[in-house]
Amino acid sequence: KKIIFSGIQPSGALTLGNYLGALKNWVNLQEENDCYFCVVDQHAITVPQEAKNLRKNTLEVLALYIACGIDPEKSSLFIQSHVSAHAELSWVLNTMTYMGQLNRMTQYKEKSEKSEANLNAGLFTYPVLMAADILLYQTDAVPVGDDQKQHIELARDLAERFNSRYSETFKVPEPMISKFGSRIMSLQEPTKKMSKSDSDANAFILLLDDADTIKRKIKRAVTDSIGVVSYNDEQLGVKNLMTIYSKLSGESIESIQNKYEGKGYGVFKEDLAEVVAEGLRPVREKAEYLLKNKDQLELVYTKGAEKAEKVARKTLRKVYKKIGFIERK
Ligand code: TYM
Repeated sequence: KKIIFSGIQPSGALTLGNYLGALKNWVNLQEENDCYFCVVDQHAITVPQEAKNLRKNTLEVLALYIACGIDPEKSSLFIQSHVSAHAELSWVLNTMTYMGQLNRMTQYKEKSEKSEANLNAGLFTYPVLMAADILLYQTDAVPVGDDQKQHIELARDLAERFNSRYSETFKVPEPMISKFGSRIMSLQEPTKKMSKSDSDANAFILLLDDADTIKRKIKRAVTDSIGVVSYNDEQLGVKNLMTIYSKLSGESIESIQNKYEGKGYGVFKEDLAEVVAEGLRPVREKAEYLLKNKDQLELVYTKGAEKAEKVARKTLRKVYKKIGFIERK
């Protein structure tokens, strides 16, 4: 039995990328493991958020966890700001992280190049908070999309540094990134990853998009002039669409390639739209139901935080003792 930890930021509605790269893979893990799935609201405020939206998005992410098949009876679902140990350990780890390490984080580099006006210290030390999230639970594995690999590397590095400076305290976590479909690309610019913060709404599909919206976005998805449904790096748009098709339907790439041999992109896209719309329909319906029954969500995050708090406190207590903080009597 392994300990699994992962989280998603409530910085907007979740995309098909979040689902295929992360959420969908979590569901199977909960049968055999001890899983913690967190809504990381403290990470979300590293970019400006309206309080009202943050509240709405936080509950929405939680509802989507459950709607995608995460069972609150099996896994601990909670909200990051409810367990104060995350912020506390994050401070300690901040004092052990080199500026150079954070400077090398590609996600920070990209974000800081985009908008100088929004640069704040939280955005810079964001990966340290993520390391705290993971290390507090003595996590074995972190199921994420490809873009989080470097952040998990930092968590490993900090665990090792602390363990060697003091004594064995943290388990060193492993990233768990699927070989196929761990980076879903933008429907408009298939060299960029699909992101909820993209200014072009046609670039992403949201888990709560209705069937008509999904069909329209897929119809408009960028392809090429080659006109053959084939999986290769010369046709990145088509490659991405085939990946989505395969991930959602369970059909192999080879079988999809054969199925659409001699047919154009029109037919392929129409079928894909059907696969996506039908695949997401139950998720959307369940999430909409839960969002109308907020009491149920409240029970879930309350119970989740209680369980998480106990485990997290235990690790934090050890850390405080080792670094020389006097225990409050
Ligand atoms: P976030 O909120 O950006 O994304 C949540 C998860 O979705 C994955 N993902 C994708 N996978 C494939 N294709 C895409 N286009 C795509 N876009 C997003 C991400 O890899 C991620 O798994 N820092 C994290 C949140 C976090 C976290 C943690 C994760 C905070 N603490 C501790 C794991 C463990 C983030 O910003 O993810």
